[in-house]
Amino acid sequence: MNNELYDAPKYHILTYGCQMNVRDSETIAGLLENSGYVSSGIEEADLIVFNTCSVRHSAENKVYGKLGEILARRRKKRPDMLVAFGGCMAQLPDVRQRLKKRGVDIVFGTHNVHELPALLDMAKQSRKPVFQVWEQEGTIIEPLPSLRKPGFSAFVNIMHGCNNFCSYCIVPYTRGRERSRKPLEIIRELNELAAAGYREITLLGQNVNSYGLGLENKVDFADLLLMANNVDGIERIRFMTSHPKDVSNKLLYAIAEGQRICEHVHVPLQSGSNRILNKMNRGYSREHYLELISRIREIIPEAAISSDLIVGFPGETEEEYLETLDMVEKIRFDAAFTFMYSARSGTRAALMEDQVEIDEKRKRLAQLNKQQYQIATEINRSLEGRIDEVLVEGVSKTDSQKLSSRTRTNRIVNFSGQKDLIGKLINVRITEARTFSLFGEVI
Ligand code: SAH
Ligand code: SF4
Ligand code: F3S
Repeated sequence: MNNELYDAPKYHILTYGCQMNVRDSETIAGLLENSGYVSSGIEEADLIVFNTCSVRHSAENKVYGKLGEILARRRKKRPDMLVAFGGCMAQLPDVRQRLKKRGVDIVFGTHNVHELPALLDMAKQSRKPVFQVWEQEGTIIEPLPSLRKPGFSAFVNIMHGCNNFCSYCIVPYTRGRERSRKPLEIIRELNELAAAGYREITLLGQNVNSYGLGLENKVDFADLLLMANNVDGIERIRFMTSHPKDVSNKLLYAIAEGQRICEHVHVPLQSGSNRILNKMNRGYSREHYLELISRIREIIPEAAISSDLIVGFPGETEEEYLETLDMVEKIRFDAAFTFMYSARSGTRAALMEDQVEIDEKRKRLAQLNKQQYQIATEINRSLEGRIDEVLVEGVSKTDSQKLSSRTRTNRIVNFSGQKDLIGKLINVRITEARTFSLFGEVI
């Protein structure tokens, strides 16, 4: 055993929320490793880092539950253990107030992740809690160290923050204003990833369509996608999220043209009612959205379209909810993430009257899910017998006898095959459809 490693302090990161947080946790891991920490299981860790999400009440509850468990274990077994708390929840003043009473050692925000090693040193030296959260975003700091999970698929931020202020959403408050990374920095990162063996990248932004605003050189998201398409070694390019209000034809033609750009567009509809869309401050109507879907299907006939939907926004009537259901039936999304509206303090919608009763929200969600699952199953069944190119990702999480892979349209295909296929692009025939996945055979 390497003695140096044996003595090194150990860290464990708990990541909640979206891909942005997954990516930030890779940065946190890189920063900690550079400071001499080594990764470990949760039981052995000398430092536990919470990277948190506040998008819905349930997300915050999960974090508080786990925090209680960790702090109790520290009291009983590990009084020397440090607990650091960062991510979107840390940006919210009422959360920080609550943390003050809980005995967390370090609190850092989404804008000062890079300060974590310094804050750790301060906490160790002073033996007092260190709370340091920047209220506002600074300029983008890069490159920062990062430790990605080994594999074939990597997330790459192309921008940070959001300017849209949808009335229900906390993200603009936790992630600050929109800033785009310079295209050359992004392409440099893609080249590094290709050299390190990654085959698929997902470009991340809260609204990728507005990439490039404010950059010195005029580069938009379509231009960036085509630049990424030229990086040798990267076989597949994915991206999310596209805001329905500004998906240009230029972008759709770029997706159709770029050989490596996957035919999958995630365009959250949120609601099918114009009155609710307006109250959500989404900036489009159901008619505009339907027109967008036709454009996508016309320009990229193979495209899979997925969406996010919210039921029970304040004041949503039964009829308005039924308009969402109607859109789901008309459009037939390949996949949809469905949520009950959750009031987030500090957002405009949280102050609106007529909050919908929880039982009503549950009823609407269950009915919407039933309909969406039915549609997804029907679409999947129509794929049986088809031959598709998949990237083999690893051993299936649900069946260790099988390998798991993904089509360009983001469908999971499980099949029997040798482990040396992992990381390769191969053709499979779809043999059986389920609601959330497909089965196939190597051909
Ligand atoms: N920037 C992306 C993702 C935002 S968060 C986008 O604009 O689509 C992911 C999803 O969470 C949102 O699309 C929305 O459907 C859901 N969401 C956000 N805030 C919510 C809230 N307060 N209650 C319920 N769902 C919410
Ligand atoms: Fe939230 Fe709207 Fe921004 Fe998405 S676009 S992160 S839903 S404010
Ligand atoms: Fe993501 Fe949750 Fe923050 S969804 S941006 S981690 S509030």
